[in-house]
Amino acid sequence: MQSDQDLVFQSYGRCCNRDTFFSDFYDNFMGKSDEVRQMFVDTDMPAQRHLLRNGIMQLILFSRGLPGTKLKALGKSHNRDGYNIRPHLYNTWLEALLETLRKHDPVYNERIDTAWRRALAPGIDLIKGAY
Ligand code: HEM
Repeated sequence: MQSDQDLVFQSYGRCCNRDTFFSDFYDNFMGKSDEVRQMFVDTDMPAQRHLLRNGIMQLILFSRGLPGTKLKALGKSHNRDGYNIRPHLYNTWLEALLETLRKHDPVYNERIDTAWRRALAPGIDLIKGAY
């Protein structure tokens, strides 16, 4: 039986191999509200897609027990003195990500979905909690 951690790593590998995964994620995320769209009006999106690829990896590694140094920096950049990302937007972010994973991972199922939710929650809570 594969561990939840294996399921998440393998699922992420399948999604990162797909050219449009990160652009689809941002299209989905920005499609969810004007508030989200407004946050990225001046953003270099190709660079942002690349940064997010690493950011998601940091969330996964944190759930596996690696120190949260990089996530603490993200907590700082996203907090009320930084980009001022209001906490409710992290739910929107998570739903956009899970929808994009479901769309791109050809073997996605409910067990993988649950494994993803468990893997992402601690890191999201850390960043959101720094608000
Ligand atoms: C836990 C989920 C999230 C992760 C892992 C994440 C990751 C990142 C990373 C790696 C960067 C670039 C490094 C930095 O500027 O500090 C970044 C920038 C940014 N993020 Fe997030 N982010 C998350 C949630 C959100 C949410 C919910 C929003 C709301 C709209 C958001 C808006 C932004 C903005 C506006 C920037 C700066 C873009 C620019 O440079 O113009 N992020 N994020």
